[in-house]
Amino acid sequence: MRTLTVGFLGCGTVGSATLRLLEGHAEDIAERAGCRIEVVRVGVRDPARERDVPVAKDRFTDDLGSVVDDPEVEAVVEVMGGVDPARELVLRALEAGKHVVTANKELLAGSGRDLFEAAEDAGVDLRFEAAVGGGIPLIRPLKESLAGERITRVTGIVNGTTNFILTRMHEDEMSFQEALGLAVAEGFAEPDPTADVEGHDAAAKCAILASIAFNSRVVADDVAREGIGAVSREDVGFAEELGYVVKPLAVAELDGDAVAVRVHPAMLPQDHPLAAVRESYNAVFVEGPNVGELMFYGRGAGAEPTAVAVAGDLVDVARGAANGGRPVGCTCYRERRVLSIEESEGRYYLLLAVVDRPGVLARIAGVFGDEEVSIRSVWQEGTGEEALIVLITHRANEGALRRTVEGLRSLDVVHEVRSVLRVEGEDG
Ligand SMILES: NC(=O)c1ccc[n+]([C@@H]2O[C@H](COP(=O)([O-])OP(=O)(O)OC[C@H]3O[C@@H](n4cnc5c(N)ncnc54)[C@H](OP(=O)(O)O)[C@@H]3O)[C@@H](O)[C@H]2O)c1
Repeated sequence: MRTLTVGFLGCGTVGSATLRLLEGHAEDIAERAGCRIEVVRVGVRDPARERDVPVAKDRFTDDLGSVVDDPEVEAVVEVMGGVDPARELVLRALEAGKHVVTANKELLAGSGRDLFEAAEDAGVDLRFEAAVGGGIPLIRPLKESLAGERITRVTGIVNGTTNFILTRMHEDEMSFQEALGLAVAEGFAEPDPTADVEGHDAAAKCAILASIAFNSRVVADDVAREGIGAVSREDVGFAEELGYVVKPLAVAELDGDAVAVRVHPAMLPQDHPLAAVRESYNAVFVEGPNVGELMFYGRGAGAEPTAVAVAGDLVDVARGAANGGRPVGCTCYRERRVLSIEESEGRYYLLLAVVDRPGVLARIAGVFGDEEVSIRSVWQEGTGEEALIVLITHRANEGALRRTVEGLRSLDVVHEVRSVLRVEGEDG
């Protein structure tokens, strides 16, 4: 039986779990791939450190270039993370005719085009199932199983940390800061949670999903991004009362020939399948005219789930190497315009603190009317001093909505526009 020789860049959370999985399931993997997989080199920062992996110490090095350049290495698994030096190393591996499996969303969302060009030129595989949704199979289903469909929308909960935080705000009535503190304490958030809370992590994943779903390159910087830091307990409470739940969403949708991509907290109807995705779980909801609605659900991160995705990619590479199969390659064969956020459309929830006296609602409605933003429903709650008004709009242009908010702020009867959140997952 043929053997595929592999070099690893990184042996941390994902790398070490992948090495254990490859060893533990070696016989099954060989049968499934028609090829054995042998790890011959592992590049890390500290080769002397003790690691719970079934790879001999003398195969470790801190010279990552030597892993990529080793003529014995046929495929490279990049599980080191970050852009530098991962980008240069992956490009070098591809240019040298080596297949690459990576878990690095940041790298793909920023440099996908260059990487795929290099892979195509060299006729090698570039796989990245673990980069979005950890252990959830998403990339291959979208690229291959759904190749006969024209996907119209992908809506995902692709960041476990922010889903955990919003779940605690809903279920335990915590404030954002309390829930964030708990997420850090329980290991669901990094000590510096910026990339998660501000939506950078989700934006990279959204760009990758959009590129695959709509066959047109979208980069992380194209994705309109709002963090979850502005979501208050008050918003979560109103959401519950009105039959919604606030979720951290990544949305990629077709609008004519263009695409709209955005990451933000949003209200979802409580009976929407994504509303049931709690704690740090991830899920991606895919819509198409023929296939209808699909949902992929599971652990979006973690050593073992992510290792399953990396190992699966490696099995595919090994299978291709053994059978002379053709790599799937880049599927971005179109050039679609990415809509600016002002051009995109949505439905919105607004929470206003207003003067509690007659005629206020009419003045507020006038501002909406001036911008042709149609109001679907209104609730008012008097507090004695002031009143709180909650409005939900019909589908409206985001630019018009922003102008409406400015108009509301300039009204003397409006003390404060406390929140504006999108409402997703329902028509009308
Ligand atoms: N963790 C998850 O649940 C998860 C899920 C999906 C995707 N991913 C992605 O998988 C990748 C790896 O994540 P991880 O959590 O496994 O990271 P990690 O635990 O921090 O491991 C990184 C590994 O890379 C090595 N490394 C990093 N920079 C290096 C450098 N400049 N030179 C030499 N070695 C270097 C480290 O060496 P030392 O061991 O010597 O420090 C370590 O072995 C990232 O792209 C991440 O986004 C992770």
